[in-house]
Amino acid sequence: MIEKIESLITEEQINKRVLEIAKNICKDFKGKEILLICVLKGSIMFTVDLSKRLDAPTEFEFIEASSYNNNTISNGNVVIKRDIATNIEGKNVLVIEDIIDTGRTLKKIVEHIKTKNPAMLKICALLDKPDRRIVDIKADYIGFEIEDVFVVGYGLDHAQKYRNLPFVGIVKMEDN
Ligand code: PRP
Repeated sequence: MIEKIESLITEEQINKRVLEIAKNICKDFKGKEILLICVLKGSIMFTVDLSKRLDAPTEFEFIEASSYNNNTISNGNVVIKRDIATNIEGKNVLVIEDIIDTGRTLKKIVEHIKTKNPAMLKICALLDKPDRRIVDIKADYIGFEIEDVFVVGYGLDHAQKYRNLPFVGIVKMEDN
């Protein structure tokens, strides 16, 4: 058996949606400086591409949380492995996530960031799997709602592979 990646969301679809989301974000932040918090590692591509489309002054920060440990099923215990490195009190923050599945990762991160007293806190996720939600968390901006399929590419991995693909795809097992 070999792994094959079937395209689910093309590079063109992503680019178009990223631009639309960026415009909505700029409207809501009303020209104020935006502190982008990239949730590592899955959100790297989305953060970079979105930032290039934001017509507003920006800063970058990075946070890393994990509950999957190279499994495809979350163990539910989200741990912050790497915290942001600067004081964000009074700043206008946009948390950028690649995918909301159970919602546990985002909830943990948002609760953690709230304790640092930002002036404004909005959430943006490229992908949302609403059927999988276990905890109550909603993003202000969503790229695409998808069904309960295991996706890779554009930052998302399968055992750390495929993050560099320029599109979002589904892993399929096929005979040699
Ligand atoms: C993945 C993904 C999200 C989270 C979503 O991260 O990037 O952050 O899981 O799942 P949840 O809604 O069920 O919490 P992962 O922990 O695999 O780390 P990674 O981004 O470094 O791949």
